[in-house]
Amino acid sequence: MKLNELRLKGFRNLAETVYTPGEGVNVIYGENAQGKTNLLEAVWLFSGMRSFRGAKDQELIAFGTPFAKLKASFTNETRENKAELTLADKKTVLLNGVKLGGAAGLLGKFSAVVFAPSFLSIVKSGPEERRRFLDASVCQLKPAFAGAVTEFSRLIKQRNALLKDVAFESSLYDMLDVLDERLGAVGDKIVEERNNYLTRLIPQVDEIYTGLSGGREKIRLTYVGKTQASGGFGALLKKNRREDLLAKTTTGGPHRDDLEILIGGVSARAFGSQGQQRSAALALKFGESAVLLAETGETPVILLDDVMSELDARRQDFILNHIRDRQVFITCCDPETVGRLTGGTKTRIEKGRVIPCT
Ligand SMILES: Nc1ncnc2c1ncn2[C@@H]1O[C@H](COP(=O)(O)OP(=O)(O)OP(=O)(O)O)[C@@H](O)[C@H]1O
Ligand SMILES: [Mg+2]
Repeated sequence: MKLNELRLKGFRNLAETVYTPGEGVNVIYGENAQGKTNLLEAVWLFSGMRSFRGAKDQELIAFGTPFAKLKASFTNETRENKAELTLADKKTVLLNGVKLGGAAGLLGKFSAVVFAPSFLSIVKSGPEERRRFLDASVCQLKPAFAGAVTEFSRLIKQRNALLKDVAFESSLYDMLDVLDERLGAVGDKIVEERNNYLTRLIPQVDEIYTGLSGGREKIRLTYVGKTQASGGFGALLKKNRREDLLAKTTTGGPHRDDLEILIGGVSARAFGSQGQQRSAALALKFGESAVLLAETGETPVILLDDVMSELDARRQDFILNHIRDRQVFITCCDPETVGRLTGGTKTRIEKGRVIPCT
């Protein structure tokens, strides 16, 4: 996957722009509030997903302007494509001259992964973020899995409601039995798919983390949950029934599982330094894209917003100069970081003006 050219007009604070990145690493640098993240956001919109900052379309249009126009030319596995987004009262999406129903029509045409600073919470926060990461990653490869995830959370909600009502209406026990049977099956599927995905992800994350740390640290990812050890979710539900009735909630299962991240044998969440936590989150993102490449043959473009701060020179050098065979876009503020780039392109952004540097 390669973005060849991006043209912008009326987008955020950016001046009318033609941006021509190279096929390797592209660094976008400048002071705070100049428009670096805005440029990444513009690239990202061609993935067919919503803004990674959660912005509404209207917020993307430059203040005081009626519409924004974004044009991209990109090469994917099959061909060179031209896509065009017009943001106004309504959004119009064109791909190779054909009008699409919406931005979702671009899904899978231009593939990208983005690392924004908020992604650090995958290491720093509680297990929910990590479960969501696993489920979303599986969905990228198997879109039908989204149905299982939705059904699972609906059934868990139903069951928790039932656990509360059963105290007043013992005839509801039969319903609980029926629900548990279905829940057991869906839960097992979820745990199985997460673990299948992890089997593919772990070697990729390992390799990248080793590179980032110059071979001085080792990362370990482990799926932690009670389901498998109990012989399936159905069996776990049975075992926990009494406890669940007392607690009036489903105390164990795929909705409580975690992806444990260890660096040098200790929890990255509890003990990792800032640089280690950032490196772990980056390794997960790069790993995700490597699995996509292996499974779909398509290397997504990688967008890294503000990842360099807190990383030492060695780790920065690895990202800038040792990531092969992928197009990467990196924003940063520090000119010293930019100086470390040996190949690739450099672009300065100043007050919304996009200035290529030679
Ligand atoms: N719709 C819009 N119209 C005009 N300007 C906007 C719009 N949306 C955002 N901006 C402005 O764009 C500016 C640059 O934002 P951006 O997030 O790209 O900065 P940045 O270069 O990434 O800075 P930092 O280094 O602090 O992350 C902000 O100051 C913001 O006010
Ligand atoms: Mg920014």
